[in-house]
Formats: sequence, structure tokens, C-alpha cells
Amino acid sequence: MEQPDLVANTVIDNPRALTDKINLIRDAGPSKFQVIADFDATLTKYRVNGLRGQTSHGLLQQGNADYDAKRQALYDHYHPMEISPVIPIEEKTKLMEEWWSKTHDLLIEGGLTYDAIKKSVANSSIAFREGVTELFGFLEKLEIPVLIFSAGLADVIEEVLRQNLHRTFKNVKIVSNRMVFDDDGRLVSFKGKLIHVLNKNEHALDMAAPLHDQLGADIGEEEEGNAYVKQRTNVLLLGDHLGDLRMSDGLSYETRICIGFLNDNIEKSLESYRKEFDLVYINDAPMRGALELVSQLFSTEA
Ligand code: TMP
Repeated sequence: MEQPDLVANTVIDNPRALTDKINLIRDAGPSKFQVIADFDATLTKYRVNGLRGQTSHGLLQQGNADYDAKRQALYDHYHPMEISPVIPIEEKTKLMEEWWSKTHDLLIEGGLTYDAIKKSVANSSIAFREGVTELFGFLEKLEIPVLIFSAGLADVIEEVLRQNLHRTFKNVKIVSNRMVFDDDGRLVSFKGKLIHVLNKNEHALDMAAPLHDQLGADIGEEEEGNAYVKQRTNVLLLGDHLGDLRMSDGLSYETRICIGFLNDNIEKSLESYRKEFDLVYINDAPMRGALELVSQLFSTEA
């Protein structure tokens, strides 16, 4: 029975406020709406076969054991700093820039190929939450954009989508670190500004602007460029960290519904999550709750 499971895994601090937001968003219609989602442990499951699922960085095997070991050594060195509560933010930002730059350099030096990405994804332990395909499909029908923000690797995320969802969605765009390959399929550089965990949210929508140009072209000529972002002032935000709430910074949204997936330390974090997110899903819940929510928002237009 799916429904009782869903309810047991859902925490809503203020159902009345949520209903009010649903009504506002529904009244404004799908042309005013967009979805902004984190990738790792939000669209994907936190645990896969009982173990922590892999991230876009974590799954990558370069086909060059020395370089895989070097990237792992960087992870062992910098990850404790990433999660340290005592390092001041300016210092941590520098450290994260250092980590991401070194990792990107190793991927280039080690001769990463697109083929290695495909193989790594095929061998990875990563899985989408049940309902993600249906959610994207429902939104695609209504021409509602989904922006996936990640400090990981855009090309790996795209390959994960391709191999695991078995189809593409023209409304789904990824804002993440994007690779440039030469004619032999070998990584030569990264495009644009480096996106790490601490700047991911800062300029997220600026970085998304060119993608909205693309979406504008795909979806309707009247909706172009920045105007496209600005027009869609109602947001559904999906994240697994309190910091993900900042993914909509840069957009002066009118109404925002936030869904938080609380994956770990549930007892310690539930209080803060329920205050900050409109809906909190615990126990690695499926995406069906979000699907039900958007179906409820725009049922007649589907
Ligand atoms: P995000 O997916 O929440 O945007 O964050 C990306 C994660 O990637 C972050 O928690 C640290 C991790 N990471 C690695 O596992 N290996 C790496 O080489 C780098 C640079 C980051």
C-alpha cells in the first residue's frame, strides 16, 4: 500500500500555510511555475541496496587507477573540511575552490574520456527516487522547466539521467560543472565558472540564465532569456540540505513551496527541517509526494 507509507514519511509543520501556497500557485497557472532541484540525495536515493548511494563525483572511475587514487586522497583531505562546523566561511570557500580546481585538473591530466563516464555510470550504485520519471514527464507536458543544480559534474549527471531514466526530457536542464571534450572524446577543459558547494547557490540563477535561453527557444518563443526566469515567479524547490533553500536566491519569487528530504540524523535535524521546509520527507521517501503535489496544482491542465 503506497498511500499509508507516504503519509508516515511526511512531516508538514503548517498544513494551512501549505494549502494557501498551493492555492496561490494553482491560481497563477503553470506558465508562472518552475522547479529547482538539487541532484545528489534529492533526486537520487540516499541509500542504494543498504549502502550510501554514490554521487556524480563518487562514481567516476577514470580508467586510470593512479588518478582515481589521487582524487580519493583529495576527498579524504578536503571532505572533513567541507563538513567541519568550525572553519570560517571565507576560509572554507578558499579550501573548496582549491579542492574543486585540483580535482578538475586531475580529471584533465588523467585523460578522462566520455567513454569512461559511460562505463562508470553503468557500474555505479546510484538510483533515482521512485516517481522522478513521472514527475519530469508531468512537468514536461505542461512545459514547466526543471533546473537541476549541482556542485558535481554536469556530464556525469546527464549520463546518469540517460542511463537510469531511459529517456530525455526537453524541460530538464542541468546547472553544474560542464566538461569540454576534444574530437577523440578526451576531456580538455571545463566551461565557465567553477561551481563548488559553497558558491552553488550564490549565482545559481545567473548561471542558469543561458539555459533558460535554450529552454525559451524549446518551449515558446515569447519566453526568452532572463525574462523567462523572471516570469516564473512561483517555485517548487527540492533539496536535502538547509543550504539548498538558497537555490532560489537571485529570483524574487512570489510563492515558493519547499520540499526537504531528510536523509540522515533525523532526530537531530527534524525540528529545523520542519521549520524551514513546507514538507519534509524522511526515510529516503519516494518522489511520489512531489508528483502528487504538482498533479494537485495543475490537474486540469494535464
Ligand atoms: P552537491 O552534489 O550537493 O552539489 O555537492 C557535490 C559533492 O561532491 C560535495 O558534497 C563534495 C563532493 N565531491 C566529491 O565527492 N569529490 C570531489 O572530487 C569533489 C570536488 C567533490
